[in-house]
This record gives sequence, C-alpha cells and structure tokens, in this order.
Amino acid sequence: MENRDIQAAWKYHDDTKHSYWSIRNNPHFLDWANRPQPFKIYPNIEPLPLPREVPQTGVAALSTISEPLPSSRADSVPGVQDVARILYFSAGITKQRKSPGGEIYFRAAACTGALYEIELYIVTGDLPGLDAGVYHFNPADVSLRLLRKGDFRGNLAQATAREPAVAGAPVTIICTGTYWRNAWKYQARTYRHFGWDNGTLLANTLAVSAGSGLPSKIVLGFVDAEANRLLDLDTRREVSLCLVPIGHRSVGSLPTPREAPALSLETIPLSRREVEYPAMLEMHGASSLGSEEEVAQWRGKQLILAPSAPAGGEVQLQRLPEEEQPHDTIEQVILRRGSTRIFDKTASITLAQLSTILDCGTRGLPADFLEPPGTQLNDLYLIVHSVRGLSPGAYFFHRERNTLELLKEGEFRAEAYHLGLEQQLPADACVNIFFLADLKLILERYGNRGYRAIQLEAGAIGGRMYLATYAQRLGATGLTFFDDDVTNFFSPHAKGKSAVFLLAIGKPLTGAR
Ligand SMILES: Cc1cc2nc3c(=O)[nH]c(=O)nc-3n(C[C@H](O)[C@H](O)[C@H](O)COP(=O)(O)O)c2cc1C
Repeated sequence: MENRDIQAAWKYHDDTKHSYWSIRNNPHFLDWANRPQPFKIYPNIEPLPLPREVPQTGVAALSTISEPLPSSRADSVPGVQDVARILYFSAGITKQRKSPGGEIYFRAAACTGALYEIELYIVTGDLPGLDAGVYHFNPADVSLRLLRKGDFRGNLAQATAREPAVAGAPVTIICTGTYWRNAWKYQARTYRHFGWDNGTLLANTLAVSAGSGLPSKIVLGFVDAEANRLLDLDTRREVSLCLVPIGHRSVGSLPTPREAPALSLETIPLSRREVEYPAMLEMHGASSLGSEEEVAQWRGKQLILAPSAPAGGEVQLQRLPEEEQPHDTIEQVILRRGSTRIFDKTASITLAQLSTILDCGTRGLPADFLEPPGTQLNDLYLIVHSVRGLSPGAYFFHRERNTLELLKEGEFRAEAYHLGLEQQLPADACVNIFFLADLKLILERYGNRGYRAIQLEAGAIGGRMYLATYAQRLGATGLTFFDDDVTNFFSPHAKGKSAVFLLAIGKPLTGAR
C-alpha cells in the first residue's frame, strides 16, 4: 500500500517547486531539433474516421457548466455522433499557427506550452454507429484506431471496484499522460501539468456531455495496471490518469472481464531521444492503486473540510441576472477560446462578471473523489486589480457563503508580476485567481493519490472558469507561479497551504488575443 506512504508526494511537491533561485539556476534549454511529435501515431492500424459534420448541442455554455447534470437514472446511450462531438470538443484541433519551431496545432482546451500530452482512448460496448472495442482517438485526422475488438467494459468495472457510473456507462473515456511530450520543456514538473492539462480538457468533456444530454463523471479510483494493460501502454512513457464514463444504461448485462494480452503495438517515436525523469515515475508509482480492495477503500472515505469563518469585511457575490447572461453555445465558446497573450491593463471587469466565473467554476465537479457531492479540495484566493465594485486587494473566496473576504487592501500589480513567475500577464489582468490546498489534510485522507486529485480538480475548475470567461467575451490564461511566495503572500490566512494553480482573467488588448 505504497499510496499511504505520503512522503513520496511531499518529496515530489517540494522538489518541483519554482522559486526565484530555482528558475535562475536551471540550465535547461529547449532543444528544438528534438521537439516531440504532438500526436501519438500507430502506423499499422487503419483509421476509422469519425463523422465531422455533427449536429451541435445548441446549449448555452454557461448552462452546461453550472446547471445540474442530466440525471443518470434515465437511459442515455450516446451514438457515434455524440462520441465524435465529445472527443473533438475535448481534444480536437481548433486552430493552427506557424511558429519558429514549426506548425502548432492548437486544441480545444488550454494546455501548458501547447504540448498536448493528454491522449484520449475509449472503451465502448456496441453503440449506434460504432462497434464495441478499445480505441485510440487521434485529433490529427479525427479518427479512431481500434486497439482491441470486443466489449471490455467489464474490465473497467472491475478495475474501478464496480464504480456505479463506470459499471452503467455505454462508453468510458480513458485519459492518459505522455511524460516526454511535456517534460521536453517542463522537466519533472510535468507530473503537476498532467493534472492541470487533463483538468482543462475535462471541463470541456463534462460541458459537452451535459450539452448532449449525457451524464459524465471523473473517476480517479482505479487499478492503474489494469487500465494501462487494457490500453497496451508502455508505462515508462505514458500512463492512465482518469476515467470518464459517459451516458447510462439502467438495464443490460455488463460483460465479464476478458483477457487483455499485451499487444506491443508499434507507435512512431516522439523524438530522436527522450529524457526520463525518475521523480515522475516514482510519484506515479507511489500514487498507484494496486487492487480492487484498495480502490474500494480509497473511494470509501469522506473528506471533512471545515469552512473557515470570515475574520474581515466581506463582499457578497451576485452573478449576472438571467436576462443579461450570454447565450453563446458551448461549441461557439470552445472554438472562440484561446489563452490571452496580452491583457489591456487599463480595462476593468464587473463584479457580476467575476461572480459568474467563480460561481460556474465552483458549483461542484462530478468526481468519485469529491464526496459528498459539492466537496472541493482547492481554496481560492484572489488578487484583484480592477474589478468594478471591489477595492483592489487580496481576497479569500468563501464558497459556501458566496462572498469575498478582504485580506489586505492595495495595488498589488508588482506582486502579481512576481508571483506569476515574473510575467506581465498577471500584472496586467483585472484579477488573478490562485488555487491553494491543504496538502497535509488531503494526503492524509487520500494518500499520494490525493496529489493527483488536487491537481486534476484545479485544472477542471480552471477549465470551467476559462469557459465562463470566454462565454462573457473576456480573456483568461493559466499561469505558473513561485510556489512558496504565493503562500507567503496570502498568509497568515493561507499559512500551511500549498499553491496548486493560477488563472489570470481580464480583457485582451484590442488586436491581441
Ligand atoms: C495550467 C496552465 C498554465 C499555463 N501557464 C502559462 C504561463 O505561465 N505563461 C503563459 O504565457 N501561458 C501559460 N499557459 C497558456 C498556454 O501556453 C496555452 O494554453 C497554450 O499555448 C495553448 O493555447 P490556447 O490556450 O490559446 O489554446 C498556461 C496554460 C495552462 C492550462
């Protein structure tokens, strides 16, 4: 039960912190000639093209991220068009741009360095228009490739200790992370990025599923080796990160688990040579679950998080009134989204716009590790520069009270510049939202896998906030940060918490993104 030995997560976390000195003393440089391929390619498997002209959901983006998910009691079986829509709007190519390093294929969800290390697979029974099998999704040609023929959903039900959403799902997506594709730039910090980049993608998956009338859920409790074997992964290079069951069938027998022999499928190497970062392999091994019993036990416990009482003045949040809410569809918003590269530092947003973003992001994710429903692991702290109706300063978001507590008043643009790794974006934004978590409490409850959970949750909430921001025609970008300086800035309130994620929100400079 290595998962319980939480020194592993602490070690990984401490060793991968950014600081003023770590950044200056790191001799790493980008070896463009050895840049990894952005796609996983199986040269010997015929593509099965997915339909491209798929009817859109037409559902308003803000509804898909903030209204109750479709009930999983009624039967809802996706067809091939739903599968195509969900995969495309989660990980598909939405734009393409030339750069000095070559062509960049931008995808539906934000991703650190535009390196797109998250791969998607599906494990499906027979669906309208798609035969049962285990498939890989390749966004480059919008096609599936059949890795195993037949219905392997019983294997996933077993691997998750019969997690109800997985056991009842006609199809389940498996998200994986490919170390080298991201570590080429970010080295051992990539394991954090797995959670962030998988999370932003999941925000889209959940939203498009909801818009398609299909329940979906994030499942983090599974026997790692079982999922990896089913996908025939070379686990020194690529590992399963989470499962997302889609749809529901109330009756119908789940097949018994089948033999899943090694396939040793050939794939095109990502680079001429790859560098392995043992810290990440150790972190992954130490946060793996080894048996159904361990999975059931892991999922069974609840996390009791006592909300802190406000000590200072509070501002009540109120999202945009219904009649003023934008009705752009989830598809329109995903296609429009693109991280802001330059913010207009003279611009401001309204308190109602910020409230809408906070509310949409924090309504509660459907996830097996967030029980009872509505639980949230990350706390949100803000640096407000220019929000009409709020004094500039540092704030804590009381989610259960829907208020912002003023921690300290003042202009903190210079501090934001520093905390966001000395980048101009957090200095010029209207507001920066920092995610911090009580790592000690979370690791005690979830073991090392809690580390995966906080990063993934932060990415998914951040992804929802991206969508809520672009739905309102504002701009956002994820950012990285100086870990301990963030905690110190928000202390004493944040004392003992760890920095997990950062999102800057504002108005793009006209003519820029
Ligand atoms: C978690 C996260 C952290 C990011 N950190 C930075 C950053 O520190 N600086 C930056 O300029 N962009 C950052 N980005 C933005 C990415 O570079 C951007 O998402 C990527 O280039 C893809 O482009 P797109 O979001 O416009 O589709 C971050 C994005 C995410 C999701």
